[in-house]
Amino acid sequence: MANSVHQQSDTNSGASSSTSLLKDVGSPPHDSAITHVTGKSEFIDDRPVVKGELHCGLVYSPFARARLKLLDLAPALQIAGVECAITAADVAHNMWGGIFADQPIIAAGETHFVGEVVAVLGAQSKESLAQGLAAVVAQWEKLPDIRSIDEAVAQESFIGHLRTISRGDAQAALKSSPRTLAGVLKIEGADHFYLESQAAIVYPREDGQLEVHSSTQHPTETQHVVAKACGIPFSDVVCVAKRLGGGFGGKETQASPFAAYAALVAKRTGRAARIVLTKDEDMIITGKRNPFQIHYECGFDDSGKILALDAMLYSDGGAYADLSTAIMERALLHCDNAYFIPCARLRGQVCRTNFHPHTAFRGFGGPKGVAMIECIMEDIARVIGRDALDVRKLNCYGSGRDTTPYGQLVENNCLPELFETLEKKCDYRARRDEINQWNNDIKRNPHAHPRGLSMTAVKFGISFSTRFMNQGNALVNVHTDGTLQVSTGAVEMGQGVNSRIAALVAEQFGLPIAAVRIMPTSTEKNANTSPTAASAGTDLNGSAAVIACEKIKQRLAALACALRGIAQEHWPTKTAGLGTWPEISIANGAHAFTVLPCGLFDGANAGGAGSNTKNKTLVEFRNSMVVVSEPAQPEFKIDFAQLVREAYFNRTSVSDYGHYATAHLTFDKIKGQGRPFLYFTQGVAASEVELDPYTGEIKVLRVDMLMDVGRPVNHALDMGQVLGGFVQGMGWVTTEHLVYNDNGLLVSHSPSTYKIPSVQDTPRIFNVDFIENLGNTVNVRATKATGEPPLLLSISVWTAVRDAIASARSNVSSELIPLAIPATAERVLRGLSPEMFAQWDAPSIP
Ligand code: MTE
Ligand code: MOS
Repeated sequence: MANSVHQQSDTNSGASSSTSLLKDVGSPPHDSAITHVTGKSEFIDDRPVVKGELHCGLVYSPFARARLKLLDLAPALQIAGVECAITAADVAHNMWGGIFADQPIIAAGETHFVGEVVAVLGAQSKESLAQGLAAVVAQWEKLPDIRSIDEAVAQESFIGHLRTISRGDAQAALKSSPRTLAGVLKIEGADHFYLESQAAIVYPREDGQLEVHSSTQHPTETQHVVAKACGIPFSDVVCVAKRLGGGFGGKETQASPFAAYAALVAKRTGRAARIVLTKDEDMIITGKRNPFQIHYECGFDDSGKILALDAMLYSDGGAYADLSTAIMERALLHCDNAYFIPCARLRGQVCRTNFHPHTAFRGFGGPKGVAMIECIMEDIARVIGRDALDVRKLNCYGSGRDTTPYGQLVENNCLPELFETLEKKCDYRARRDEINQWNNDIKRNPHAHPRGLSMTAVKFGISFSTRFMNQGNALVNVHTDGTLQVSTGAVEMGQGVNSRIAALVAEQFGLPIAAVRIMPTSTEKNANTSPTAASAGTDLNGSAAVIACEKIKQRLAALACALRGIAQEHWPTKTAGLGTWPEISIANGAHAFTVLPCGLFDGANAGGAGSNTKNKTLVEFRNSMVVVSEPAQPEFKIDFAQLVREAYFNRTSVSDYGHYATAHLTFDKIKGQGRPFLYFTQGVAASEVELDPYTGEIKVLRVDMLMDVGRPVNHALDMGQVLGGFVQGMGWVTTEHLVYNDNGLLVSHSPSTYKIPSVQDTPRIFNVDFIENLGNTVNVRATKATGEPPLLLSISVWTAVRDAIASARSNVSSELIPLAIPATAERVLRGLSPEMFAQWDAPSIP
């Protein structure tokens, strides 16, 4: 199978390099592939309606900040079919939050963003629900609000405190730097645009228990929020998340209150309750990627080598804390990206405004820090008159320059090799010359379309930056026909975590992947789980599953060794199970053996085969068999399923539970120093764009990407994540524009006004490859996470647009023109000809 889509014809030829590219040796399909294309995959709203089930609807604030003077629900309750109305007074514990419990589930008195819920109605039909919502009488008094980072900073309206990560004396180093540049970068948010809106169904079960089905990335938190809202113990709530129609971070925290609304209605009425937001409601109510405003000053020498960086990052957290402080932390931890910065002061402050509480979105804070440093790379290059790629290579992490500002050593570093290889593979230098030529010609022909080229990098830290979250658990049940069911805390949202875990488990037992079923995620089987987020779903849950498998394998291996010495007619299925023969003891040491490990794994977990396997009894799980071998003995083979049956009849457990906690993590949040990440996923991308000088449209002509994803569990799924993540990021940096009116209402709340990339917008030429890297032995199977990192490479599209604008204008002005994210058509036009806009811009409009 080819590694590239839209394989280009001949431009790659002649590229030679010592780096080997990874071949896809055949990836099993996504576990939902067939049910998705046949329409049989079940999402929340596909669950059949049960008898008496109610539909839930929300009454919410229409103003950014307001006082609710009057809320009269009686007229709604008069409407036939409207069964109940829930307000703040009905919520047992009304405060929730992913980090700080600062947000009411249902607000009362004052509201702080458009979309803040003040009441929930439960009705028999969608029609009666709509009539009921229309009948609600609410009177509001608008209050002064804060709707920009600038206003929040001026009023010191902050969430959490100022965070700093620093190394050396950045101020002094800036003063002594031969050259400096400073700027302000404005980065706006983006909507997650998952296809399945926020949704939940809650079934009341006997004795006050609730069964919650939620489209949540974080079933444990949803369980807890529901239980607290209803005033019942956690043990009376089971939360199930079978699959999500996309999450992208938008359902990490923000799914939970919606489940609580349905639960409150279910609890009140004793009837099943369903809530499924419309796209418009979902976009209006739920938070987005945090907008950022970054003020930076960078010192460098005449060659372009960075000497110091001082950056102050402000983010718009919206009305409540949600995950914004953790997102800011990740932004600070990614300001270096691929580059060694000897002296740095990186500061971050989350602002409280009157927008929907902003939240996790693929990349978390990472993309914001990376956008800043990649923009600095481009600008240094322009100031000193070098190619930006040379400036990047000069500053890239390498030997002797391999410690981050927060003190983590960049191990298994492939960045220099990635830059070198992609430079050749994508024909960077020749294309740079061609583009320069093209843009020079344009200066004589103002109707032609300027082009830009830029190569950026990503070095994404894998692990939650909060240590306790780096744990996972798994339940592995082996059945007597030799098939398995595996349950973990991982949530399948399209990324393929189920298929990856199934592959890891199948590999452990030497079984075909079809022998392993991944069961719906449920808090009844896996408790105290972390959200499926931070790209660590497979790492944490897959590792836990492998640990459970290893325990089962130890028992099965011991039994296999014992069976070898026993005549078949005395095996447990024929005798011990019936009580006619003693059971086989598999107590430790009865038979000394070593189970051969499968996959590459941290030494601590590797089962300890090591080098001195000579003269030992070895047990191997392969080809659906269990094989015992010993020097000078005939090999003993038993069918895996047969061995499982022997174990069962011998009363030996063939199920187990694994718990995994990521080792080596030492990050001290107070000092801002240590090792927050187990490893880094790395990559580079070169994007070429063309701008339409009349419409401001950006065409992405060609993208070449090269990533290090370690030793993938499933090559094709990783490729899907890389392509999808990149294109999603392209939307954020180009066309996706959130427009709010003066009341703070998101007016671009549907696909007709909010432009995500379509298939037409994908790069015309899109070459994606992985390098071969078996060195990431700290992680399960030496794999590297792919969920978020590729999104950050889309920043190359934005830097390419900046490059195109700068070179198109180079004969007009050498001034560096700021370009916000997203680079919308209007911003591109403004960048190309600010003079033209001057005549329309009244002085009062910024
Ligand atoms: N891919 C699909 N198809 N749908 C999604 O919702 N979420 C992304 C990424 N890829 C997402 C996706 C985000 S934000 C994260 S953190 C990871 O998947 C989470 O899954 P993982 O940890 O299994 O990679
Ligand atoms: Mo992903 S933003 O960590 O859910």
